[in-house]
Amino acid sequence: MTIRTMTIDDYDQVWHLWSEIKGFGIRTLDDSREGVEKFLKRNPSTSVVAEDGGMVIGAILCGHDGRRGCMYHVCVAEKYRKHGIGHQMALAAMEALKAEGINKVSLIAFKSNTIGNKFWRKVGWTFREDLNYYDFTLNEENITRFIE
Ligand SMILES: CC(C)(COP(=O)(O)OP(=O)(O)OC[C@H]1O[C@@H](n2cnc3c(N)ncnc32)[C@H](O)[C@@H]1OP(=O)(O)O)[C@@H](O)C(=O)NCCC(=O)NCCS
Repeated sequence: MTIRTMTIDDYDQVWHLWSEIKGFGIRTLDDSREGVEKFLKRNPSTSVVAEDGGMVIGAILCGHDGRRGCMYHVCVAEKYRKHGIGHQMALAAMEALKAEGINKVSLIAFKSNTIGNKFWRKVGWTFREDLNYYDFTLNEENITRFIE
């Protein structure tokens, strides 16, 4: 198993992986090839994949806005879980952010995602009880489909 920087050439395999992760919300625009390509052009060094025998078995979309890092779609294929791959990928993405001079990183986890929330606490991330999360939809065509 190797962990390396994600490129747009990984898109088909990464999308296939996402499509099998129960509970994931896949967005029509942001998660399209064009959307991911835009993201990776802006953030060429900070997203990672885990690969086993040429097959993508884990991925993290990670980028920053010049101040704060952010992770999206953190996932490991079900049969590869609980072997430290998620943690190793998160550390690799965090090192890449640090190399960009970024000092803080955050992410959103659904409250209902028991495993995801346990994972982030176990790998040392701080659960912020003092914050409320706000967002505003700028494009109604960016529709989210949840994987069941
Ligand atoms: C969350 C996820 C990425 C973790 O990947 P992983 O490779 O299995 O995680 P790791 O093996 O690196 O686990 C690190 C620690 O997290 C905790 N953890 C991971 N999976 C867990 C589970 N199912 N139940 C309880 N704790 C868990 C463990 O404490 C583990 O440390 P340990 O093995 O020393 O006990 C993976 O379960 C996944 O893809 N889930 C679906 C997508 C998702 O929910 N992503 C997070 C969105 S916020």
